[in-house]
Amino acid sequence: MRVRFRQPVEIVEHVSDTVLEPAHAAYYSGPPGKFLPLLLRARRDFLSIWRVGDYREKVSQVRLFGRQIVLVNAPEVIRDILVKRRDNYERKSPQMRRALEYLLGDGLFISDGPTWRQRRALVSDIVHKDRVPAFSPIIERTALEMARRWKQIPDRTTIDILPEMAALTAEIISRSVFGQELGDADTAEVSASFTQYQALVDSTNPGYFLGLDEGLPMVRTPALRRAVRRMHTVIDRIVEDHLAGRGSHHSMMELLVRRQARNPELGLNAVALRNEAATIFMAGHETTAATLTWAWYLLARAPWVERAVHDEIAAVCGDRAPTLDDLPRLHWCQAVIDETLRLYPPVPILARQNAEADRIGDIDVRPGSLILIVPWLLHRTESLFEAPHEFRPERFMDGRRPAPYSYIPFASGPRVCPGQHFGLTEAVLCLAILAQRFRFVLPPGQKVVPQCRLTLRPRDGLPGMLVHRRRRPAGDAVTCPPAREREHESAGCPYSA
Ligand code: HEM
Repeated sequence: MRVRFRQPVEIVEHVSDTVLEPAHAAYYSGPPGKFLPLLLRARRDFLSIWRVGDYREKVSQVRLFGRQIVLVNAPEVIRDILVKRRDNYERKSPQMRRALEYLLGDGLFISDGPTWRQRRALVSDIVHKDRVPAFSPIIERTALEMARRWKQIPDRTTIDILPEMAALTAEIISRSVFGQELGDADTAEVSASFTQYQALVDSTNPGYFLGLDEGLPMVRTPALRRAVRRMHTVIDRIVEDHLAGRGSHHSMMELLVRRQARNPELGLNAVALRNEAATIFMAGHETTAATLTWAWYLLARAPWVERAVHDEIAAVCGDRAPTLDDLPRLHWCQAVIDETLRLYPPVPILARQNAEADRIGDIDVRPGSLILIVPWLLHRTESLFEAPHEFRPERFMDGRRPAPYSYIPFASGPRVCPGQHFGLTEAVLCLAILAQRFRFVLPPGQKVVPQCRLTLRPRDGLPGMLVHRRRRPAGDAVTCPPAREREHESAGCPYSA
């Protein structure tokens, strides 16, 4: 007899001339009450375990070996957890901590308590939105270099856009954080090793369900050790180069080093510096690479949106390359990225472990439980988004914004992504620069499988055809929609002057 959780995940995708329902896992329909098969399925892919009823506004719970798992899919309650009662929910889940500690040590993404508080202030300051204009020339230059490289590739060659976007964003973050080039060999090395790391780590941590509040450390298999060693070798070399004075004095790393010199009580020794640098490097490139990859997929499947993007770039920029100053007028480009982050949030699960007992909705929650806020579900909840599985960038245009706490690709509250302005600016700018010159075309019917391990990526990469565009005259373009307000609750608009 075949066991249900071993069955391949069924993928739904509907494409017509005007409507796109992009690829997503079909609703889970296994027998109710059997949670072990679900856990085993979640080990392979966390997106394929949700039933139709999970995509509703509600708070629910399951127990697995006595462990309480609380799923929170209601904006008001999400605000309670991430903002109002944040101290109780500051701690990341053991699954997340254990899956990333080998790579990031006590880096910000997984630390908590005094270490997190002290370093959060430092890191969020150096990637703060006020610094984005200073780093935007790096973004523009690196994207243009990629465009020049792509120009050398013969028209209609098949490329895998996922590693291409990973190389682009790794180079951008390296130049911003360390003030130095990474180069093709190292960007490929980091990107390939992180892909391998994601495939190898177990992000369910059965030890936690068997009673260990801290979960069990990951088994460091030779393959996992090799993947980590390859990433650490690259990161250590750029940190050491930097400390030896070979990096730029305007880089993020330099800001960290100077802060430490002024405030020795911060205790940022070489290991802590390496961990924070690795954290910014990994958190800062992998998420933006995934966003851009999904955006290319969506444009390839929705030519009517792709046309609007092309026309807008032509109207706003003519033949010159888009720059930071153009972003406030690139409404379609921004809306495509916003909608991409709704449909494919690169961090599709925000998992926490509560310190003390609490009551969430009608549920009494024991200390040490697993609290799951799942942007993948929230962003596809029908009461919050009309036709939630469809790609409709227009829902982010003309001043329209989702209801508070219903759209959280960057999380919210004190642990909100400190790099959100950097990441958004980078994604919109790279898309505009590359889409001005190239199209990415997917064969009709090519299967794309969204898979969530640590981040949400297309499981088999995204091979497609790179097509060189011939420019159209700037006048031959649609009118741009009126300016829209962007309201990120934690900070102001990154695009306004
Ligand atoms: C589109 C791009 C990005 C997305 C969607 C994204 C998303 C997120 C999310 C959801 C979290 C919170 C995770 C949780 O609470 O469990 C997070 C944290 C973080 N992100 Fe981003 N991120 C992006 C880009 C960046 C960039 C460009 C940087 C750095 C330059 C960055 C640095 C960080 C750091 C350091 C944290 C940990 C913060 C903490 O725990 O206090 N991210 N990101």
